[in-house]
Amino acid sequence: MRTRKPNLDSVEWTLPSFPVSELRRSLLTWYAESGRDLPWRQTRNVYRIWVSEIMLQQTQVKTVIPYYHRWLDRFPTVEALAAASQEQVLKAWQGLGYYARARNLHRAAQEVVALGEFPRDLETVLALPGIGRSTAGGILSAAFDLPVPILDGNVKRVLARIAALPVAPSKAIASLWQLSEELLDRDRPRDFNQAFMDLGATICTPKQPACLLCPWQKSCQAYNLGMQNDIPVSESRAPIPHKSIGVAVIWNDQGQILIDRRRPEGLLGGMWEFPGGKIEPGESIEQCIRREIQEELAIDIEVGDHLVTVDHTYTHFRVTLNVHHCRYLGGEPQPIECDEIRWVELADLEQFPFPKANLEIIAALRQKQQK
Ligand code: ADE
Repeated sequence: MRTRKPNLDSVEWTLPSFPVSELRRSLLTWYAESGRDLPWRQTRNVYRIWVSEIMLQQTQVKTVIPYYHRWLDRFPTVEALAAASQEQVLKAWQGLGYYARARNLHRAAQEVVALGEFPRDLETVLALPGIGRSTAGGILSAAFDLPVPILDGNVKRVLARIAALPVAPSKAIASLWQLSEELLDRDRPRDFNQAFMDLGATICTPKQPACLLCPWQKSCQAYNLGMQNDIPVSESRAPIPHKSIGVAVIWNDQGQILIDRRRPEGLLGGMWEFPGGKIEPGESIEQCIRREIQEELAIDIEVGDHLVTVDHTYTHFRVTLNVHHCRYLGGEPQPIECDEIRWVELADLEQFPFPKANLEIIAALRQKQQK
């Protein structure tokens, strides 16, 4: 007999009703005892909280903490950030990834300085670059104790479990917002939202949730059904594409290396890199590098020894950088597909913001030099 899988896209499902007061009370009690002591919880300064929320958007707490402290030493106020150059901002963000966050934070700082203060109404906050609905809720609740809900990845998972959501969270976003708003403690939004995130991060974890320690265990439908390991239902994802890139470390006769700055928009916008591009079908790495450098910079090079191969995963694709030493032969370098080109000494490379995969190329160059 053929069995048919239920089509979960069309499952009839209504939000269960919860003992809301009891959930608020038990969560806040748990938070007072077991919540994390994180640096951005020791302040009500909206700029500091905002910086933390942007850094935490795609990055784990333990990675963020040292960046957060360094950032505030470097740019202690929104005015200091607004007055900095994009290059200084990207340099301070270097290694955190998703550099659009830094560019948007910088632009938003300039807008906030122009406004005179950080806005308190949701609509104006949402109009600032880089601030979506959950980040806005995180900032407004933490800085001003305003009752604005949040729905980050951790919170989605907690809600999916307590409601035994039968579909992937991305298919029930409106219901999840509604539930987050319904549960939010109007008297203590700041603590409630922080507690909510901690519950997801430390108890209601993606794998092996610690249900026995959970303040919401009694009301959790997934737990009561023994389905905490099956919920949230996983998102169906297309396999991510892979790109092979040829990259050139181009040396001139003075022992300098050519680097270029990417256009300001798009992935890694404004960051510096070693030039190169995608290997076309049937092309060798050497052919690709020679072609790309001619197309992008209009110079002739000789492609030499292999230096290093670097693999890196972005959200929507993976790349392999096949890096070769190259010798500059002739032509005046033109910034045809980038914003700026420079010849730099190896020792000066660290003054420029480079994406992580390019830092591995620099490390390989340094290692070779020491040998
Ligand atoms: N992720 C996003 N915001 C956070 C916060 N305030 N504390 C811990 N993790 C977070």
